[in-house]
Amino acid sequence: MIIGVPKEIKNNEFRVGMTPGGVREFVAHGHSVLVEKAAGEGSSFSDDEYIAAGAELVGTPDEVFARAEMIVKVKEPQAVEISRLRPGQILYTYLHLAPDLAQTQGLIKSGAVCIAYETVELPNRSLPLLAPMSEVAGRMAAQVGATYLQKPFGGRGVLMGGVPGVLPAKVVVLGGGVVGTNAAYVAMGMGADVTIMDVNLDRLRYLDEIWGNRIRTLYSSKHNIEEAVYAADLVIGAVLLPGAKTPYLVTADMLPKMKRGSVVVDVSVDQGGCIETTHATTHADPTYFVDGVLHYGVANMPGAVPNTSTMALTNATLRYGLAIADKGWKQAVLDDAALAKGVNVLDGKITYKPVADAHGMNYSPLEKLL
Ligand SMILES: NC(=O)c1ccc[n+]([C@@H]2O[C@H](COP(=O)([O-])OP(=O)(O)OC[C@H]3O[C@@H](n4cnc5c(N)ncnc54)[C@H](O)[C@@H]3O)[C@@H](O)[C@H]2O)c1
Repeated sequence: MIIGVPKEIKNNEFRVGMTPGGVREFVAHGHSVLVEKAAGEGSSFSDDEYIAAGAELVGTPDEVFARAEMIVKVKEPQAVEISRLRPGQILYTYLHLAPDLAQTQGLIKSGAVCIAYETVELPNRSLPLLAPMSEVAGRMAAQVGATYLQKPFGGRGVLMGGVPGVLPAKVVVLGGGVVGTNAAYVAMGMGADVTIMDVNLDRLRYLDEIWGNRIRTLYSSKHNIEEAVYAADLVIGAVLLPGAKTPYLVTADMLPKMKRGSVVVDVSVDQGGCIETTHATTHADPTYFVDGVLHYGVANMPGAVPNTSTMALTNATLRYGLAIADKGWKQAVLDDAALAKGVNVLDGKITYKPVADAHGMNYSPLEKLL
């Protein structure tokens, strides 16, 4: 199969759909990979590395789209990219169609086979192609929090690990899933006093088992949240209710009781946030104050570390991408129910129910179209 990797064109997107290492795997399976010139630049992968891995460098995105049978990307296609798709061509990338009517209509019109990373789902309901970005964002959350706790960045001037004779920073992580666990892991590594809160007791048991008394686990009740948050130097928001808006665990009226110069990093901002006063910010202007509490609400945290993020993403997307290329998309989804869940639009029809429901459009079950 001919695979195409165009340069990402969404504003401030520095990741790329495939690393040189990924190219090497596709080539080893007998496929051809077309990589747009400078596609890897933002992630610190040079054209020479792609050539050494066996890719063919291509000068324009038009040529990539025209020649490739499968396009591998990171972000949802922008309008000009949608116009380049053709019936039967495979698009394998993050789509996030539910809140995006224009893109949904564009992909329906394209006739392409649109496979969304974010809806590939394993039988245990985990999302293997979303997890790597949650890992990155979680680990970054502790790092970012440590930075903003410093006085010159607006924080209350607390060092995460303290020093001998001085207590460490108190870090409260709301939600003990992928983001929360990774945030806690890095915060603990910095020597902070970390409390992780969840409503899932089995999850708390698991965290207690792996980390013992290096971490405090706490049930996420209103009472416990208030006590923990009022004492915290850094609060990390990492809650997710799949398919629903995140509940506000820290409400606006709680802010005046929090420490001045304490920091909130609300990673769940992309689903509405679990801190009521959070709104989405950008890497260019990431923070703002409310009631003396410094808020960080970047909705696309992994974008700041595109080299790591691109490698983490390729690690996760590769095996499904190879299956599609080796067997053709139809056989690949017939063989793998997890990948089948990724098919959102096929032949001008919506094959992922939540997307159809979100737009009040017709839903066509994939099984009926295969
Ligand atoms: N900002 C970014 O750049 C970025 C990047 C990746 C992920 N995210 C977001 O981070 C959030 C967390 O993602 P994840 O992958 O860790 O999800 P996850 O499903 O692995 O974890 C969510 C956790 O929240 C817990 N939870 C639910 N209700 C709760 C409550 N009332 N109190 C405490 N915990 C509660 C769940 O039990 C679960 O353990 C999501 O909103 C995701 O979209 C943001």
